[in-house]
Amino acid sequence: MQIFLDSANYQEIEHWLRQGVVDGLTTNPSIMFKDGVYDLEEGAKRLCKLLDGRPVSVEVTTNDHEEMLRQARTFAGWAQNVVVKIPIVNEHGESCLGVIHTLSSQGIRINTTAILSFNQAILAAKAGATYVSIFAGRIADEGNDPGVAIRNVRHWLDEWNVQARIIVGSIRTSMDIQNAALAGAHIITIPPQFLPKMVDHKYSRETVRQFNRDAERALAQIEQSKVSR
Ligand code: E4P
Repeated sequence: MQIFLDSANYQEIEHWLRQGVVDGLTTNPSIMFKDGVYDLEEGAKRLCKLLDGRPVSVEVTTNDHEEMLRQARTFAGWAQNVVVKIPIVNEHGESCLGVIHTLSSQGIRINTTAILSFNQAILAAKAGATYVSIFAGRIADEGNDPGVAIRNVRHWLDEWNVQARIIVGSIRTSMDIQNAALAGAHIITIPPQFLPKMVDHKYSRETVRQFNRDAERALAQIEQSKVSR
């Protein structure tokens, strides 16, 4: 399973890349805005360079299909590791499957975003998307179990040997990460603030403290025996 960061925070991304746990990056216009990236082209190019070949999702910012195609082709020209995020529908509920299909057929990797159901995921995969982004937190907001959707989509992809990869996003708690991993996510895109919570445990600290203390006591014993010789 791969881990992507759901972020545009350069320092955080740099930090977690150094820890060796980051396989890619996802962004959206809200994340870019929150992390202070206002110039999309400059910000995306900088992030693509930092990710050094790993996939970086950059989202289109329009409801218009022709404009989506134009933006997607422009984004894809910014760096070799750009993946273009296209929503499953625009804000009027119009299908974006045609855009996904056209771009995928032209060799542009597409991450279909804002997926909240099994049916949306299988249609995006059929249209040629490289990634289908299932929004776990938003599914749960509606009172549904994201684990069921993730498990069913994974089963369907495997059953029919479809190449699309599931990205689980919209992570709200550490438990969402664990549930998504066990439900069959190929990739989980994690907001960086969850990684320290995932790595740390108070009993691990206490265990290390005990070992360090006993190592110090062993050294003290050596010193003691030198003195008494
Ligand atoms: C994933 O690719 C999205 O950027 C993100 O996870 C959306 O999360 P949200 O529901 O917190 O906006």
